[in-house]
Amino acid sequence: LPSVGFVGWRGMVGSVLMQRLQDEGDFARINPVFFSTSAAGGAPPSFAAGTGVLQDAYDVETLATLPIIVTAQGGDYTAEVHPRLRAAGWTGLWLDAASTLRMEQDSIIVLDPVNRSVIDAGLARGVRDFIGGNCTVSCMLMGLGGLFRSGLVEWGTSMTYQAASGGGARHMRELLTQFGALHGSVSGNLDDPASAILDIDRAVLAAQRDPGLDATQFGVPLAGSVIPWIDADLGNGQSKEEWKAGAETNKILGTDTRIPFDGLCVRVGAMRSHSQALTLKLTQDLPVSEIEGIIAADNEWVRVVPNTKAATVTGLTPIAATGSLEIPVGRIRKLEPGPEYISAFTVGDQLLWGAAEPLRRMLLIATG
Ligand code: HSE
Repeated sequence: LPSVGFVGWRGMVGSVLMQRLQDEGDFARINPVFFSTSAAGGAPPSFAAGTGVLQDAYDVETLATLPIIVTAQGGDYTAEVHPRLRAAGWTGLWLDAASTLRMEQDSIIVLDPVNRSVIDAGLARGVRDFIGGNCTVSCMLMGLGGLFRSGLVEWGTSMTYQAASGGGARHMRELLTQFGALHGSVSGNLDDPASAILDIDRAVLAAQRDPGLDATQFGVPLAGSVIPWIDADLGNGQSKEEWKAGAETNKILGTDTRIPFDGLCVRVGAMRSHSQALTLKLTQDLPVSEIEGIIAADNEWVRVVPNTKAATVTGLTPIAATGSLEIPVGRIRKLEPGPEYISAFTVGDQLLWGAAEPLRRMLLIATG
């Protein structure tokens, strides 16, 4: 069995990845070696009892004995360890959830239902770094890849509604703590049906603006608000998350001619599924039914939601999508500017197709 080193398996993305590997019985196909940045020498995870003690995740010599390393440890770890491993002559496969190496010339962004041919060509020419894409981009391409891969997209915009989990586990906790604090500030009034809603609103706003409300992770309150900026300020008016949308979409597709793709990325108070509203300019005027057919036929996880109120509000929300590998796509209709302009709305579990699943599947490809 091929030996595979796992780093960062305890964190949020790592835990989802470990769960997926267990659910699919993948550990039976590999010989896992677990590493730790803090507890080398400790016991391996309970789901992999008998695999030997935890190895030191900074020990390049031990890492270099493995043909494949999978890390969800984070970008700082990648930046520190990956160059040392390569400098030591390691030629194994590096599978990584972090963004650090994504746009490197020598890396491939993995999303095999969309770019299996790019992955296979990369393996054939000796590419060794396979990196999971930005969650929003991966979920968008799982949903709308059919249109992109058919060469039907002239350009697109994506306006996102990104969940707290994209920031990390502590961000999810902070959001819930804020919801609780806001509720606590008005619970007496809420219980009284005769109380005035504007008094409640005033009290909630006061709680949101209270410097005592914990907003350590996001920097500003998210509960009952939105934050229209995600990741770094690139200084040109664009956020890094917005830059990733165009850069990674094109890199994943591996197209010769760049498809202009841009938009605004917004954090909302959802837990772990990212949503996005798309405007696509198609290269042709196709009937909506044909567009839906192309989208639906692209992969086994995409699911077209009929563009009705009833189907949309039940099937096209973070609550509906979370915990599932299905990618619902709905609100598909022609827009007023012209018959080639369509809207779409899609939702995806940010920890599944957005993070763990592309890596899990790349591991399967790599181990044959
Ligand atoms: N940058 C994403 C977010 C995380 O903040 O939602 C996953 O790529």
